[in-house]
Amino acid sequence: MMPPGAGGGATSVGRMCGIVGFTGSSSAAAPGPEGLAVVLEGLRRLEYRGYDSAGVAVLADGPGADGTPPGLTSAKRAGRLARLVEALEESPLLEGSTAIGHTRWATHGGPTDANAHPHLSADGRLAVIHNGIIENYAVLKAELQAEGVVFASETDTEVVTHLLARTLAEQPAGGAGALAESMRRVCRQLDGAFTLLAVHADSPGTVVGARRNSPLVVGLGDGANYLGSDVAAFIAHTKEALELGQDQVVQITATAVEVTGFDGTPVTPRAFTVDWDAEAAEKGGHPWFMDKEIHEQPKAVADTLLGRSDAAGAMVLDELRIDESTLRGIDKIIVIACGTAAFAGYVAKYAIEHWCRIPVEVDLAHEFRYRDPVLTPRTLVVAISQSGETMDVVMAVRHAREQGAKVLAICNTRGSTIPRESDAALYTHAGPEVAVASTKAFLAQITACYLLGLYLAQLRGNLFPDEVAAVIGQLHAVPAAVQEVLDGAEAVRALARELVDAPTVLFLGRHVGYPVALEGALKLKELAYIHAEGFAAGELKHGPIALVEPGQPVFVIVPSPRGRDSLHAKVISNAAEVRARGARTIAIAEVGDDAVLPHADVVIRVPAVPTLMAPLVTVVPLQIFAMEVATAKGYDVDQPRNLAKSVTVE
Ligand code: F6R
Repeated sequence: MMPPGAGGGATSVGRMCGIVGFTGSSSAAAPGPEGLAVVLEGLRRLEYRGYDSAGVAVLADGPGADGTPPGLTSAKRAGRLARLVEALEESPLLEGSTAIGHTRWATHGGPTDANAHPHLSADGRLAVIHNGIIENYAVLKAELQAEGVVFASETDTEVVTHLLARTLAEQPAGGAGALAESMRRVCRQLDGAFTLLAVHADSPGTVVGARRNSPLVVGLGDGANYLGSDVAAFIAHTKEALELGQDQVVQITATAVEVTGFDGTPVTPRAFTVDWDAEAAEKGGHPWFMDKEIHEQPKAVADTLLGRSDAAGAMVLDELRIDESTLRGIDKIIVIACGTAAFAGYVAKYAIEHWCRIPVEVDLAHEFRYRDPVLTPRTLVVAISQSGETMDVVMAVRHAREQGAKVLAICNTRGSTIPRESDAALYTHAGPEVAVASTKAFLAQITACYLLGLYLAQLRGNLFPDEVAAVIGQLHAVPAAVQEVLDGAEAVRALARELVDAPTVLFLGRHVGYPVALEGALKLKELAYIHAEGFAAGELKHGPIALVEPGQPVFVIVPSPRGRDSLHAKVISNAAEVRARGARTIAIAEVGDDAVLPHADVVIRVPAVPTLMAPLVTVVPLQIFAMEVATAKGYDVDQPRNLAKSVTVE
């Protein structure tokens, strides 16, 4: 949403940015790490969150070269982080062991140096960075302008800077905790969603943060502490972290972390240990994070299955904090998610309805609460989110709980908002997903949904124990099947190079192949900027077939010929229909399926797996295809234009 009153056409900015704060020892005897280096390293790891401008502010430990007293020094640039780094090489900042940094993602208005963060107070002694939107920005700005405050940017964030400076000036001079207290007072005046970090020249060695509806976690170091939009910001330094809740202010120094509510009540935050390390967030020799993450998919599935069934194949989901009698009484499931996570939900619908005989609806989270969904205490809402921070999903979770439904989060990120606000969480163990386009999280989400479906079927007696064990066995065979696709991916890469100039690509699938078609199209749109559409194969003749003209590439996700009903034959007919109209058909088909040969110009082979396991395998060539087309076009695969990894605005 656009902050009101931004004026001038294209000036307002919503953010789902990367935020880092650090403070370490600044004593001459035991100097801590250089604050700027720590913050730049954190920003590099967070750049996937937003990458249209970057900035840093450092509290200097000693006097400036010209003898000026210690103070605040800062720099910011529109563009990628590399531009800021270049600027810092040309004009270095003063050294200091307390610093904050920001990468920004703008929803409205061109990113400029002036709009980049940090935003400084008029005297240059206070710096503020922000993720989110201050909804009552216009009213506050008008008030400040009436007092004579001059604004240097078009952002809503700058309002916070000036309010904070004004509030701080009203505090007893030099009072310990003055910055934190001022932050609490300012936050009480703000509407909207925000994570804020502030440093002030009069509060050396201190960073103050605040959060409402936007992510912020604390990293606990040895003689140093960290703040970050997510743990990637400080994973190179510590795995010990604290979750912050809604409407809380945190003050970190090198040796202490103090958390309070906006009203000043002390809070004890929940501690957690990050279960992956810095190396997991590095490219490890792959050209792209996405390539690495595609290759990590066998492990993502295997790790998500780990410890969730016993030796006899019975399901054990100890972490489900919803009691068994409630789960037995569920009469409807609604999956809420966005983008790729929603497609995982569509896949899950087929499996859960089949195993549990419970109706499953799938809703895009941003549509969910506006349609006035029918929710009762017997509804189980399953919120799927890799990041755990997608604002559309957060709001949908809140709505569902307000209406009395139970909410289960399927999430990849510990310490994030969605699992914290849900009744229970089932974590996917995909490891950090850095590339903006989701890949391994998709496979892990489907796996976790299947575990949930099997657990419910076991609990409610819909499946016999040997049937549950058989499906678990099929899931355990998926990593090897995915590996086989990865090992034989050269044909897909060659096809991508050949189709690099295709103006539009269509994807067809039926049953669980339909969400795979949607996901294949989404990957190609977001990475290669090619118009692409996914269709339910049977829907084609109801309109979309009019798009087909000679040479039009059409991917067809072909179900197993050994699968249920006449799915295979139906999809083959759909392939024949488009090919008869001149389409260039590319079949994703099981090894040994010769029935596709007369209807396909190209056949990409995948190993034979049972029908419900097929999406975990057939999506992989489509991910590789999109990545290769984007690479051939010279695009940035990990950070496609206009996107951000974690969509923390509605
Ligand atoms: C597409 C993609 C997005 C996300 C969506 C939800 O490649 O990554 O469509 O799947 O923004 O994100 P999470 O799962 O973090 O809620």
